[in-house]
Amino acid sequence: MSFEQFEKKAELKAEFDFDQLEQDLENLSFSEFDDYKTNAKPDSAAAEISAAKTPAEKETNAGKNELEEAYGIVTTGVEPIEIAGTGSKIIGYIAAGQRENVRLGTYVIVPYENENLFGKLTKLQYRQEFTVDDATEIHSSRMLSNKRADLSRRIIEEDYKLLAQIDPICILYEKNQKEGLQRRMADRIPKPNTPILPVFDKEMVQTGLNIPKEGIFLGHLSVGGELVKTHSVPPTVAYYLRNDYSSGDPLIFRHMLVCGSTGTGKTFLTKNILRQFETENSRYRQRSDHSIQNMPCLVIMDPQDEYSQLYEDNTLSDADKFNFNSEKVAYGGIRNTKTFTAKAEGERYAGKSRAEQIEFTIPFSFVQYNPWILETAELTENQRNGLEILIADYFKDTKTKNKTPTYVGFKEFVEDPFNKEYYTEQTDKIHESSYGGIVRKALNKTYERIFDKDAKPVTELFKTVFKPGQVSVFPTEYINNSRIRDLIVLTMMTVIVDNKLNTSGDEDVKNTPIILVLDEAHRYLSNSAGTLSGKIISKFAEAAKQGRKEGLGLFLITQDPQDIETEIIKQVNTKIVLNLNNDAAINAVKVPLEYEKRVPYLKKGQMIIHSPDNGDIVEITGLSNCVVKHE
Ligand SMILES: Nc1ncnc2c1ncn2[C@@H]1O[C@H](COP(=O)(O)OP(=O)(O)OP(=O)(O)O)[C@@H](O)[C@H]1O
Ligand SMILES: [Mg+2]
Repeated sequence: MSFEQFEKKAELKAEFDFDQLEQDLENLSFSEFDDYKTNAKPDSAAAEISAAKTPAEKETNAGKNELEEAYGIVTTGVEPIEIAGTGSKIIGYIAAGQRENVRLGTYVIVPYENENLFGKLTKLQYRQEFTVDDATEIHSSRMLSNKRADLSRRIIEEDYKLLAQIDPICILYEKNQKEGLQRRMADRIPKPNTPILPVFDKEMVQTGLNIPKEGIFLGHLSVGGELVKTHSVPPTVAYYLRNDYSSGDPLIFRHMLVCGSTGTGKTFLTKNILRQFETENSRYRQRSDHSIQNMPCLVIMDPQDEYSQLYEDNTLSDADKFNFNSEKVAYGGIRNTKTFTAKAEGERYAGKSRAEQIEFTIPFSFVQYNPWILETAELTENQRNGLEILIADYFKDTKTKNKTPTYVGFKEFVEDPFNKEYYTEQTDKIHESSYGGIVRKALNKTYERIFDKDAKPVTELFKTVFKPGQVSVFPTEYINNSRIRDLIVLTMMTVIVDNKLNTSGDEDVKNTPIILVLDEAHRYLSNSAGTLSGKIISKFAEAAKQGRKEGLGLFLITQDPQDIETEIIKQVNTKIVLNLNNDAAINAVKVPLEYEKRVPYLKKGQMIIHSPDNGDIVEITGLSNCVVKHE
């Protein structure tokens, strides 16, 4: 009833007692409801809902009558109910005693005789039951003069109707025992006055939302921060990410993004998720031979020195462990965690865990095929081209002279006045001002501290770094220079992507399923970062496309999703959105409006999961403990 209609009704009231009529109708519908209750046979839909699956579930269910817990009934009393291909309108009346329990997004079941409509509440609305004008000065001051403590008593719920709009998600039905519960499009209209029930059956929620019943544990289904509770043991509904080949490839190879403002729990959550990948059951096919299945190698770029703690247990209570076991949540340190540190002059890595530490160095020869690794954001297009010419010629020069290429050697080559004259004046290959720019911007004293140090070159460590079932952490915080830090990260990103994508790539890299975890991903995959990462972006976009085939999963973590190149974001199937507080970031993650609105209000641990190939978009709450150490 519209506002105008309502006012009109108030005018008419003088002639006809509408209230009385409504009251009568109401009583009538409730008596029908009572009929439903008493007539509910054991084989009726409602009884089916309570049909317990396991003895444990039976015990919990014992004596519970779902109808007593019904939120209310489907009503046509206010507006017609309808379902249509383009959008449906099903209105429910929420019983006074249940009003505290309904939220926007609450999942509900509306039964038919032999199947159930599964839906969620998308709109809540109070309407007057009796025509009283509560929008008056007198009424308002009377209400306000009451003490705050009396708030709940001030409003008599029965004076108002609480109406809820139910958006159908699907119909749940069981064709036969073997196939179990199935879902199909909501193609039936519920009967008026049917009860609206909470969802007490875990399988109904999972099937209704089309989410896997096993896989990588990400968290528990929740609505507005409240966990969805069923009559199963444990009552919570675990949300898993598909991790098998039952319908396509494991979803990690379709990539994952965790985004949230600083301090919202990205690292905490990421550790909890990463831990799940290192279990015996988490195995992926080798590209060259599908009969070989390996555990993945997690390669983690760690800017804040937090991930080597994946090695260490967290202190957990027995109750936590019991719950983790019953929901197949892996916990406890991964002993196969190693920390790889780049040897840099004047820097020492102290270590945040007992994980084994292995030193490596980046050989300058790596630059020959990856000249862009020396390109900084400040270089102009001409300077960049010039730098590439110089690098190529330097490597040619060392080859003819049979010298080992080094950074110092390259620097001398560029600074050599003869060479400068050759490139700028004699051949005009590089403009004089560009040459000056290259010397100023690309040659950096700090590089001398990192290339060709006294440690094993990373290019000879592939067997040690890329091992199935291993966690290889690359901390960079201990290095007090952002250029070197970036150089390390970009080197490792390049090593992985190049070897994975090239047909002649290293066997250890090619055959190991790799999950590359990139914290502060916007730093390396952003277009606005300029040329620093221009090349890596096209490489990565390609790698993301080929990931499924090559066994490469990208796990990106960022507080600035808007800065990650759209070509790459587009390839990410699973987006986990924690609290974000700026509009640009929220827009960038592109979740439906209904969920977008919730993003700025998400509390620590709450998140929205958008993973179209895994199931419907939902809100979940992550574990409140870290399954490994996080401090
Ligand atoms: N679900 C949770 N339950 C309880 N505490 C949490 C939860 N998530 C995170 N925390 C705590 O909140 C703090 C910040 O978490 P975390 O370090 O994961 O945030 P972050 O988003 O990675 O921050 P940064 O932007 O600095 O990287 C930590 O002390 C962590 O223990
Ligand atoms: Mg963090």
